[in-house]
Amino acid sequence: MKNTQAYINTHQNEFLEDLKNLLSIPSVSADPHFKKDMVAAAKATAQLLKGAGLRKVKVNKTKGHPIIYGERIIDKKLPTVLIYGHYDVQPADPIELWESPPFEPIIKKTKSHPQGAIFARGAADDKGQFLMHVQAVKAMIVSKELPCNVKFMIEGEEEVGSIHLGDFVKSNKKMLASDVILISDTSILNNKTPSITIGLRGLSYVEVEVTGPNRDLHSGVYGGAVANPINILTKMIASLHDENNHITIPGFYDDVKAFSAKDRAALNKAPFAEAKYKKEIGIRELHGEKGYTTIERVGIRPTLDVNGIWGGYIGEGAKTVLPSKAYAKISMRLVSNQNPKKITQLFTKHFKSLAPKSVKVKVNPHHGGDAAVTPIDSIEYQAAAKALETTFRKEVIPQMSGGSIPIVALFSKVLKVNTVLMGFGLDSDAIHSPNEHYGLFNFYKGIETIPYFFENYVKMKINNH
Ligand code: BES
Ligand code: MN
Ligand code: MN
Repeated sequence: MKNTQAYINTHQNEFLEDLKNLLSIPSVSADPHFKKDMVAAAKATAQLLKGAGLRKVKVNKTKGHPIIYGERIIDKKLPTVLIYGHYDVQPADPIELWESPPFEPIIKKTKSHPQGAIFARGAADDKGQFLMHVQAVKAMIVSKELPCNVKFMIEGEEEVGSIHLGDFVKSNKKMLASDVILISDTSILNNKTPSITIGLRGLSYVEVEVTGPNRDLHSGVYGGAVANPINILTKMIASLHDENNHITIPGFYDDVKAFSAKDRAALNKAPFAEAKYKKEIGIRELHGEKGYTTIERVGIRPTLDVNGIWGGYIGEGAKTVLPSKAYAKISMRLVSNQNPKKITQLFTKHFKSLAPKSVKVKVNPHHGGDAAVTPIDSIEYQAAAKALETTFRKEVIPQMSGGSIPIVALFSKVLKVNTVLMGFGLDSDAIHSPNEHYGLFNFYKGIETIPYFFENYVKMKINNH
């Protein structure tokens, strides 16, 4: 990979220019206002793939946002790496909390990124990360050092639950046939401690609606005699955790795998600076399920969180009103064998049973997804670990992540291919928050590391046969 690395070293500015251009397109998948920008981002992604030397590049229409495909087949007998990423981003709001406009990328230095970071929505999640693969593959193709076949599939609906990707994968199994799926859409522990994500949590997401009287009422005339749906909803929500922050839904923990003392000890070996963690997000004390460390609470335990809650009067000043309706959006992060459909059912049954006769309750399920794991003894993990050890000169630490990428479980079910999560972000990069950014160190380190993954994987795969 000598020529490849030389190419990478001399093309850093071009790589960054491509990222700036991509980040200037507001490809927010959740908001129909940005439909045109989604198409523009899809086209720009296809253009980048073509520019990298990929063939059969196509922007595939779906019922939602397009999926981009491209490939470079050098020899059908050699292994194939399938790279997945997403060009859609989260909405930028609350926009007033951004220090610079979310779709006008600028470079600034931060504490975690003394060499500078690029600030824009999607910088780390996931434009900056999938672009590393495009640049690394380009470098290998130009340098004539691509050691195997490569395919790209970049989607535009990850942030809204990959609604149409499942069908696309099922109807294009042949085109997507591969030996390993490589994804950079997760974090490392810090810039001195490389890590590979070996677990992602699953997800069940619901929206609840509590209805009291058939119209908003005067809170003086009726208050005291009629159930207030907001009072009731908040009480119901509060009862979903007990005094140990354990979730109270009957059966919720039935399929959660208990980790052995040995496995828990191994997990807790990862460096974790509690004071820094608290300071960075401005809290005085941690909060979570009794009997578990922070690493365990986000890595191997399921959770239930209200993501949004509304109802009644929220405008300027005061309006005395007893609202007719109250709403909340609730996410449950799942682990090991918890089935999202089953969990949604358990939630629905329990939540309805909590409601007094004075209100009506509706539960509307949103998207969900299974948890996923990568075995440490697999060659894909080993190839990634060796690549990271080459470029960081440090031992790699396996990590269970709290986030979700629901499509990973589907890849293993439908394509029968394992995924390796070789992400380069930091948890402090503010993904999904105002002032999202991605370190230049991380961007370039990723581009440098990816070719070594290819080299290691091909060697290990061939030796294995
Ligand atoms: N890239 C994230 C997931 C992630 C972030 C995993 C950091 C590990 C570390 C992804 O884009 C994401 O945000 N996923 C959603 C799930 C989806 C169904 C909306 C999530 O985790 O909330
Ligand atoms: Mn992502
Ligand atoms: Mn995301």
